[in-house]
Amino acid sequence: MFALFWTTVLFSLSGSNTYTVASALGRPFCSNGFCITLNEGQITAEAGLCVVLPCSFTTANGFTPKNIVWFKCESWKTRCQDSDIIFHTNPNKVQPEFLRRVLLLDPDVSQRNCSIMINDLTTFDSGSYQLRVNGFQNGRTDGFMFTPKTNVSVKGIKGHNKSNFISLIQGCV
Ligand SMILES: *[C@@H]1O[C@H](CO)[C@@H](O)[C@H](O)[C@H]1NC(C)=O
Ligand SMILES: *[C@@H]1O[C@H](CO)[C@@H](O)[C@H](O)[C@H]1NC(C)=O
Ligand SMILES: *[C@@H]1O[C@H](CO)[C@@H](O)[C@H](O)[C@H]1NC(C)=O
Repeated sequence: MFALFWTTVLFSLSGSNTYTVASALGRPFCSNGFCITLNEGQITAEAGLCVVLPCSFTTANGFTPKNIVWFKCESWKTRCQDSDIIFHTNPNKVQPEFLRRVLLLDPDVSQRNCSIMINDLTTFDSGSYQLRVNGFQNGRTDGFMFTPKTNVSVKGIKGHNKSNFISLIQGCV
C-alpha cells in the first residue's frame, strides 16, 4: 500500500508532461502464477483513429503460450464470454465488427507481448477489454483468463476538419 502511494507521488512529481504509453503501464497483477501488466487507468481515444492497448504477461512454470484471445464485455462482468471475442487466430470466432481492425503488435506470442492496436475506432469500441492466453501446460492444452481488464473510452471527433483528420490517421497502421 505504502509502495503504491510513493510510486504515485514520485510519478506525479517527475514530469507530468512527459507522459508516454510505457510510463502509463501499471503494476503486474498476478494470480496462480500468471501475471499481466496493463495500462494504468482508462485509455482515451478518438473515433476514426486508432488506439494501442499496451499489455504484457508472464505465465506459470511449465506453461507454453501458443496464442492469445482478446475479449470486450461489460466492465461489471468478471469474465467475458466466447461471444465477446474481438481478436483470435481463427477469424470465424471474432465478432464481425472487429474483424480486420485488431492487430497484434508482436505476433510472436513467446515474447509474451499482448499489446494490440484497434483501427478505425467508433464510439461503440468503448468498454472493458480482457485477455486470455491459450497454450500447453505439461503437454496438455490449457488456457488462462486474466482477471484485470483494460478500459477504453472512445470520443466522437470534435474540432477536426477533414485535412486534420487525414494527417492524424496516418499514425495508424
Ligand atoms: C476498469 O473499469 C472497471 C469498472 O469501472 C474498474 O473496476 C477497473 O478498476 C478499471 N480498470 C482499470 C485498469 O482502471
Ligand atoms: C510490444 O510490441 C510492440 C511492437 O513491437 C512494442 O512497441 C512494445 O514496446 C512491446 N511491449 C512490451 C511490453 O514489450
Ligand atoms: C483544416 O485544417 C487545416 C490544418 O490545420 C487548415 O490548413 C485548413 O485551413 C482547415 N480547413 C478548414 C475548412 O477549416
